[in-house]
This record gives sequence, structure tokens and C-alpha cells, in this order.
Amino acid sequence: MEFLSRMMDRSIFRDARDRLEPVLSGSAGRREGEVRLKEVPIFEGCSQRQLRSVARIARVFEAPAGTVLTRVGDPGDEFFLILDGTVSVDVSAGRPVLLRPGEFFGEMSLLDGDPRSATVVTATPVRLLVIHRVNFSFLRREVPELTQILLVTLSRRVRQAEARAERMGER
Ligand code: CMP
Repeated sequence: MEFLSRMMDRSIFRDARDRLEPVLSGSAGRREGEVRLKEVPIFEGCSQRQLRSVARIARVFEAPAGTVLTRVGDPGDEFFLILDGTVSVDVSAGRPVLLRPGEFFGEMSLLDGDPRSATVVTATPVRLLVIHRVNFSFLRREVPELTQILLVTLSRRVRQAEARAERMGER
């Protein structure tokens, strides 16, 4: 409830800034809970230089189940990559879509500047990699492969949404 009310005034990440943990780029020994970017699937093909760049801008955020991360209609300033746990995307047609480790969300508002297209809530405790809007285009420049992954994922999500809407229309 505390998270929910903070989210209502869109301050969850302002308030949580102190809890956004830095990440590691390389293979040096890690403390418990630290994230090694090389082990995150979308960064596995990255060079050490690319990983260092990502590590400078990415932060880790942990949240319990039931935390509202984006709310439909709100402005959006963060891109999220799921490290652990599951989130539920409340889509207009049909049952919520579940996103799991390795998947991402929050890219749409950062790409087109429009408000959040869906409410996203944590279905389990989660650990997320968070990248703020001001660093998102830097990330896409530093890791050009990411743009291809974004495009393919967006295409798949449109196809799945169309299929869901069609199935609902048939009922
Ligand atoms: P954004 O609109 O910034 O914030 C809500 C996010 O939910 C959105 O970006 C997408 O990342 C995600 N999202 C919206 N619709 C779907 C969908 N149909 N399937 C999966 N994820 C979605």
C-alpha cells in the first residue's frame, strides 16, 4: 500500500533512489545480490566496454509482490528489465500478460513520449534493472543490438494482442 500511494503521485523512483543499487559490468567477484550484466541475456553479446557503459546508467531495484510499477495514463520515465520474479501487465483485451526474467517493459513511453499504455504490477517479489529516460537513448546508441530486440518484441506483442482481441471477438 505504501508503494501504491507513492506511485499515485509518481514518486516511487524518486523516493526509492537510495535503494537503486549499482550493478557490476565485469566478472570480478560479487557480493550477495549484486548483478553481473554479462549474465543478463540481452547483454550477453556485449563487449566489456559496452558493459561498463551500461553499468554506469543501470540500477537494480527490488520490490515486493503487489507493487504498482507503471500505471496506465501516467507519464513514464523508466525502462525495466526483469532479473528475477514475474510482473503482470494489465492489458485491455483478456487476461493479464505475465512477463518473466529476461523480459522487459516500460519501453513504449520512452520511445514515443506518450503516457504508460498499461498498468504493470509485480506478481511476485522482483528484482529489476532500471534505466531512466535520460539514459535510454544513450543505452540504444551504446548497445545497437537492443533496438532490434525492442522491435522484434514490440512486433510479437502486437501480434499477440491482435490474436487475443480476435479470440475475444469470437466468443
Ligand atoms: P509503457 O507503455 O511505457 O508502460 C507499460 C508497459 O507495459 C509498456 O510500456 C509495455 O512495455 C508493457 N505492455 C503494454 N502492453 C503490453 C502487451 N500487450 N504485452 C506485453 N507488454 C505490454
